[in-house]
Amino acid sequence: MGQVIAIVPAAGKGVRMGLKGPGKQFVHLAGKPVLAHTLLALEASAQIDGIIVVIGQDQVKLGWHVVNSYSVGKVQAVIPGGRTRQESVWAGLQHVPDDTEIVLVHDGARPLAKTELIDAAIQAARTYGAVGVAVPVKDTIKVRDVAGFVASTPPRDSLWAIQTPQAFHYSILHEAHTRANESGCVGTDDCMLVEKLGKPVQLIEGSYRNIKLTTPEDLIVASALLASDEPEDDGQERQSPTVTRVGWGYDIHRLVEGRPLILGGVEIPYHQGLLGHSDADVLLHAVMDSLLGAMALGDIGQHFPDTDMRWRGANSLHLLQQVNKILIRSSGTLPKISHIDCVIIAERPRLAPYLLQMRLNIAEALGLTVDQVSIKATTAEGLGPAGQGEGIIAQAIAAILA
Ligand code: CTP
Ligand code: MG
Repeated sequence: MGQVIAIVPAAGKGVRMGLKGPGKQFVHLAGKPVLAHTLLALEASAQIDGIIVVIGQDQVKLGWHVVNSYSVGKVQAVIPGGRTRQESVWAGLQHVPDDTEIVLVHDGARPLAKTELIDAAIQAARTYGAVGVAVPVKDTIKVRDVAGFVASTPPRDSLWAIQTPQAFHYSILHEAHTRANESGCVGTDDCMLVEKLGKPVQLIEGSYRNIKLTTPEDLIVASALLASDEPEDDGQERQSPTVTRVGWGYDIHRLVEGRPLILGGVEIPYHQGLLGHSDADVLLHAVMDSLLGAMALGDIGQHFPDTDMRWRGANSLHLLQQVNKILIRSSGTLPKISHIDCVIIAERPRLAPYLLQMRLNIAEALGLTVDQVSIKATTAEGLGPAGQGEGIIAQAIAAILA
C-alpha cells in the first residue's frame, strides 16, 4: 500500500467571516487556532502519513508557526495557495509524493472533524476510489430563479450537504483536477470534479458537528461545540455553587499620538493609541476590575501596581489570565464565571468589526465560551472626554457563581 497524504486548503480570505487580521484559520477557539484543531485531528489519524498545508501567500511563516507550536510532526510542506480553493488543492497536489495511494482533502476551516471520521473516509476511498463525507440536509431546499421566484423544490430525502474530509485514489483526484483545469471548470469541492469525470463518488455519513467556519455565528457555534467536547470532570473537587456574585469595573485612558490602540487584545488601526503603563487596554482593565470586584479582591492597581516595572508595557491578556488564577487561588471553591458584559465608549474609530475577536480573546484567556462574553460599543454623542475624543472609557460587569 502506498502513502496516505492529507491536503489542507487553508488559503482562503474568509470574506464571509468579515474578520480583520490574519483570517478565520488563525482565530483562537478553545485555546487553539482553528488551523491547529484541524491539523491535530489529522495528526492523530494512524492512517495518515503526511500532511500538506496550503496557506495564504503571505501566511507561510504563520502557518509554520502553528505547525511547530502544536508539534504537528506529519506536516511535510506549508505552501502558498491560489485564488480559488481548487487552485489551492491543485498547488497541494504538486507536493504529493509519487508513491501516494490515497489523498485526503480536508478544509482548514473545519476544526471539528473527528479523527474517526477522517479514518472512515480513507478506508472508504480504498474501496470506492472517491468518497465525500456528507449529512442529510435539515432544511427543505429551494432552487431560486434570477427573479427571486422558486423554480423547484427537490425532494429533501435525496439531498445531502457535502463536507470535508473527502478522500480519493491519488490517480483519480489528479485526473479530475487536470481535466477541470483543461476545461476551465471550477468546483467548490473536489468530489464535484470527480463527478465531472463521470466516475462514481460514494457519500458516507458525516456529522452535524463538523461545521465549516464561514460566517461569524459559526464561531459561536464551534466554540460551544468544542466546550461540550471537554471532559466533564477535571478531577478537581468542587462544591456546588450557591450564590451569584456580581462585580463592576470602570476604566478610562487618554488617547495620544504615537501609541498603538489595543482593545480587548486586538490592535486596531488608528492614528492614536491609549496612554498607560501597561498596553493601556482599557477594556481588559475594566473586565479585570469587574472580576476582582465580584470576589471582593480589590482592583488591578493593587495586584499589578504601575510602580512595578514588571507590568510596564504588559500584555493585558496575560494580566487577565493572572486575574483568573487569583480568583481560583483565593476562593474556597472554584469560582465559575457565568457571564461578562462590557461597553466601550469611544467616539472613534468604529469598533464593530473588532468586537467578535475581542470576545474570543477574553473567552480564551478565561476558559469561557464566546457566548459568555458580551461587548458593546457606543459613542458619547460628542459629550465628555470620550465624546471629545480625549480618551476611551470601558465598563464591565461580571457574574460569578461562587
Ligand atoms: N481555500 C483555499 N484557497 C482559496 C479559497 C479557499 O485554500 N483560494 C480554503 C479555505 O481556507 C477554507 C476552505 O478552502 O479552509 C473552504 O473555503 P471557504 O469556506 O469558502 O473559505 P474562504 O474562501 O476563506 O471564505 P470566503 O469564501 O468567505 O472568502
Ligand atoms: Mg471561499
